[in-house]
Amino acid sequence: MNSPVMQGLNLNAPAFVKNAKLIAWVADMAALCKPDSIYWCDGSEEEYARLCQQLVDAGTFRKLDPIKRPNSFLACSDPTDVARVEDRTFICSQNKEDAGPTNNWMAPAEMRATLQPLFDGCMKGRTMYVVPFSMGPLGSPIAHIGIELSDSPYVAVNMKIMTRMGKAVYDVLGVDGEFVPCVHTVGAPLADGQADVKWPCNKTKYIVHYPETREIWSYGSGYGGNALLGKKCFALRIASTMGRDEGWLAEHMLILGVTSPEGKKYHVAAAFPSACGKTNFAMLIPPKGFDGWKVTTIGDDIAWIKPQADGTLRAINPEAGYFGVAPGTNTLTNPNCMASLDKNVIFTNVALTDDGDVWWEGMGDAPAHAIDWQGQDWTPQIAKETGAKAAHPNARFTVSAVNNPALDTAWDDPKGVKIDAFIFGGRRSTTVPLVTEARNWTEGVYMAATMGSETTAAATGQAGVVRRDPFAMLPFMGYNMSDYFQHWLDLGKKLAASGATLPRIYTTNWFRKGEDGKFVWPGYGENMRVLKWMIDRIEGKASGQEHVFGVSPAYEELNWTGLSFTPEQFQTVTSIDKAAWQKELALHAELFQQLAYHLPAELSETKERIEQRLAA
Ligand code: GTP
Ligand code: SPV
Ligand code: MN
Repeated sequence: MNSPVMQGLNLNAPAFVKNAKLIAWVADMAALCKPDSIYWCDGSEEEYARLCQQLVDAGTFRKLDPIKRPNSFLACSDPTDVARVEDRTFICSQNKEDAGPTNNWMAPAEMRATLQPLFDGCMKGRTMYVVPFSMGPLGSPIAHIGIELSDSPYVAVNMKIMTRMGKAVYDVLGVDGEFVPCVHTVGAPLADGQADVKWPCNKTKYIVHYPETREIWSYGSGYGGNALLGKKCFALRIASTMGRDEGWLAEHMLILGVTSPEGKKYHVAAAFPSACGKTNFAMLIPPKGFDGWKVTTIGDDIAWIKPQADGTLRAINPEAGYFGVAPGTNTLTNPNCMASLDKNVIFTNVALTDDGDVWWEGMGDAPAHAIDWQGQDWTPQIAKETGAKAAHPNARFTVSAVNNPALDTAWDDPKGVKIDAFIFGGRRSTTVPLVTEARNWTEGVYMAATMGSETTAAATGQAGVVRRDPFAMLPFMGYNMSDYFQHWLDLGKKLAASGATLPRIYTTNWFRKGEDGKFVWPGYGENMRVLKWMIDRIEGKASGQEHVFGVSPAYEELNWTGLSFTPEQFQTVTSIDKAAWQKELALHAELFQQLAYHLPAELSETKERIEQRLAA
């Protein structure tokens, strides 16, 4: 009681919080982190407005022009805190093998001992926000609840947009409901009277997961997936381990609905690595030549997929908003996304224009002058001379799903949607053709498992280097990658045993470059041409051409109405170079060597068959 740090700290939970375990945990965490106060979020609009105003007053938020961008804000982060930190992300399972060779691992006890002194007093001078959230529709049997404790009000308002956040979560939790505890701190305690900075963070960072006890501890970053713990930490890393144990999948996938002019509707789930086109594909507007076709968004980043008794797979989007890449987004490439950003948006690390609006590279005509994401004067001339970017390449917007004009009516349906096809698509300037259909489930799993992609600005580290990114899940796997491959193979067998038609599996590559270094495939809305071919395949209307590792379309099989794309250009994006594929197979072999422990034999056998065909 006479501890000075606990003075004035009210540990009493509000009346609407009835969960005994939660109340005790909050008290424990308060004793550890030693915040000045505790604030229990109720998720109301009034609270959102109040916290945003508080962020404006603190200098973290800049309110944008209320006519041009109603109810929208710009936050600019510390230049050292701009993306996910994969080298500081840990899976702390009891056994190292359960984290596998693709994850950083530390024994739980050792990690707890490491984190203890860091978290001790980490929230001094700050408020601890209690953020209750549901991943998935509130109260639905497929949803899971998390509670994030964070000393960042920026996190609290972002979580309000990204998840179902608020009081109703406590009602669902009741007295004894289960939740995933998520502790987050920016790691910047304030001494008495010490002034705060606009974007507190710490150069030491830890993004830690304990899969066995289903806990998340995040230290030192306020940015994106490092800090909004419902997203990658919970809905992918922890949820993938839940899925392993319970027989379902948590995937880094968009989910879209595509409806033909005849009114037939299909659902596609697509895994592309970070900043490789999920948000864009999920909001696609069919181009000329596709009258009557419609694409609708169920989700843009994460899918939870559960097998049904009839052998079908149904998918839900556990999120409620989009934390999307700003650079490259414009009214031509993604009009639905631009329309989503008209109002009620939080922008992070884009540029501020002189008329109180935002701008980023690839948005359209550059303003004559702006303040860049680091607070410096920016002009097209300065950019030309110094290469300075107005927006950080991983600048993002946070926006509610309901802002999306293409939102699917079933996006919030607890039953989810039936998946007809999976797509795995990397970013490759060479080697990988535009689209390939796997001949069967195992070959599809092989293609997904061996997928390579060039790294992007979504994570710290060097961008543009090809690495293996199995299932686009490399940074998000909560357990051993080889066990995960086995989980996918087992699922295929289980579905087949129910007599169901399995979803088709495709790989795509929108990013092949020509000799001039430019993308050859027009991409974006034009990806509809490929999507339509996939549906033709499902409907038995396209025969395709079989090659060494699958089936790809002949030029004539794609609808080219409204686009001038010659057979030569098509050849450039679809050709399969034998020497390049021999090198590619060597990289698959390297991956399989790394993943040798528990690597399913079926995948090694598939590789051998491809090698034989390639050599023939
Ligand atoms: P995360 O949110 O990081 O998981 O990324 P995402 O997969 O949702 O990526 P997003 O759709 O935001 O795209 C990232 C970048 O890729 C943007 O700069 C887009 O402009 C660009 N992009 C998206 N689709 C295409 C495409 O079909 N072709 C080309 N060339 N670029 C694309
Ligand atoms: C990704 O990197 O895949 C993202 C952005 O979706 S973040 O939430 O920051 O991980
Ligand atoms: Mn993502």
